[in-house]
Amino acid sequence: MSVSKRTYDAVIVGAGGAGLRAALQLSEAGLKTAVLSKVFPTRSHTVAAQGGVAASLGNSTEDNWHWHMYDTVKGSDWLGDQDAIEFMVRKANEVVVELEHYGMPFDRTDNGKIYQRPFGGHSQNYGKSPVMRSCAAADRTGHAMLHALYQRNVRAHTQFFVEWVALDLIRNANGDVLGVTALELETGEISIFHAKATIFATGGSGRIFYSSTNAFINTGDGLGMAARAGIPLEDMEFWQFHPTGVAGAGVLITEGVRGEGGILRNGSGERFMERYAPNLKDLASRDVVSRSMVTEINEGRGCGPEKDHVMLDITHLSPEVIMKRLPGIREISIRFAGVDPIKAPIPVVPTCHYQMGGIPTNYKGQVVLPKDGDPNTPVTGFYAAGECACASVHGANRLGTNSLLDLLVFGKSAGESVVEDFKAGNLSLKPLPEDAADVSLARLSRLENQGDGVQVADVRLAMQRTMQKHAGVFRFKDLLQEGVDQILKVAEDARHTRIQDKSQVWNTARQEALELDNLIEVAKATMISAEARKESRGAHVRDDAPDTPEHPNGRDDNNWLKHTLWFSADNHLEYKPVQLKPITPGVESIALAKRTY
Ligand code: FUM
Repeated sequence: MSVSKRTYDAVIVGAGGAGLRAALQLSEAGLKTAVLSKVFPTRSHTVAAQGGVAASLGNSTEDNWHWHMYDTVKGSDWLGDQDAIEFMVRKANEVVVELEHYGMPFDRTDNGKIYQRPFGGHSQNYGKSPVMRSCAAADRTGHAMLHALYQRNVRAHTQFFVEWVALDLIRNANGDVLGVTALELETGEISIFHAKATIFATGGSGRIFYSSTNAFINTGDGLGMAARAGIPLEDMEFWQFHPTGVAGAGVLITEGVRGEGGILRNGSGERFMERYAPNLKDLASRDVVSRSMVTEINEGRGCGPEKDHVMLDITHLSPEVIMKRLPGIREISIRFAGVDPIKAPIPVVPTCHYQMGGIPTNYKGQVVLPKDGDPNTPVTGFYAAGECACASVHGANRLGTNSLLDLLVFGKSAGESVVEDFKAGNLSLKPLPEDAADVSLARLSRLENQGDGVQVADVRLAMQRTMQKHAGVFRFKDLLQEGVDQILKVAEDARHTRIQDKSQVWNTARQEALELDNLIEVAKATMISAEARKESRGAHVRDDAPDTPEHPNGRDDNNWLKHTLWFSADNHLEYKPVQLKPITPGVESIALAKRTY
């Protein structure tokens, strides 16, 4: 198979919010930049983000970055790196106002400022009362953001390679990153994208679970490529289950619905969140709401013939508010649940939504790994941002609307780091090794030559069922142990997948098989890291780590206040310290000082 070669200053994999924001930084600095995307950029999964982007603008209620930082650290269950969190919340207003200037159509308050709504876990005065911090464009914030960023990139002459699938990361003997191999879906061409800098912005991997709000394209491609190339994956045990996916379909119903006054009710119509979170009620943090819902369902108080979901009720809101603030939700509800929420409540269940872990980076967007005693040594030429990266600002659990903020702040900062590294002379076009494309060619030829192999769809389903059962909202010691054995068996099957009918094969069939390789890396990382972490923290809740006075909520700081690193080559785990100090000398660690249980 022949392999072509293209050369760029920088190659970015992924054209969602993080990829587009990074690309803009590079193209506007005059760097020759290629962006590879499996789909047309404005169809990237950022388009599905509904409720808003967090920034302490204080347009409707008083707010400041200290409160935002406190909420984010507390929401992370103290596992977030506080230098990165400080960096993110202090940059928030700047990146949102920048977007406004790019033409993003935010909703407006009566006096013309950006409209902000409340979201779970966001507060004033260190947890005292809810705050309106989520900057929204109706319930289509991600859609509006992607269009603004894409148009700005067209203006900056960013070069897009649409319907190109990145296959593998290329590293030299020193471990420096030199680019990626990729497959063009239309032609089947294989090409090396040789670059001085490579930025991964490939988004999440929620498709490892059976029920997910994630798009079909969210197959963890960046994580799989990094893991196969020897980069560890960080904190992969932490997955957020969004409380309100449409029952049976998984499609997201924004938390903004509860921000606008929506109420969760059980089978007898009770507003059950009053029992679990008397202050914040339906706007408690996502892990609290998801676990409360699952408890209601498990204890027989669910709705419907199977009592397997609860209801999200907005029938008390005026039709005008619903049509103005939540038009997309009404449409989703009618389409996927057959219910008009103006007239009847929406059936919902917790659904896999977001990975807190990912490719380890520092707050500059540089990919880091342990080397010579330093757990955070940058990998030359390699950067990552957005959901595929772990900066780590979300720690063990992410606050709603901090994801759009994360991708803007760290997309920009990864781009800025590349530009700075260029100016400092730290990046050059290093010679490609002779075997640069061999790993990818071997993966492709394996697919073509697996006569009796198993079908991709069967292996993928087995993986999704295993993850859903063994690493879901609640985690059980025995199920986790069995889950490790099962996922390793599924991983072995994945090595023997075949393309069904070679005479008629489409590149999309090849793509699905190649994506499965990536999903499997993420699934193994998740299960093995989750089995090993013997405490409960944030979204990782184990039955054998109960809530006691010594270990509030099952958290064990003495032994487990540390980040997990999983290595694909032999499935081994290492741990590294959490950055507990803010970034700016002289700034008090507010979140630590205010630490309460
Ligand atoms: O509920 C939502 O609109 C989701 C927002 C988020 O995940 O940040």
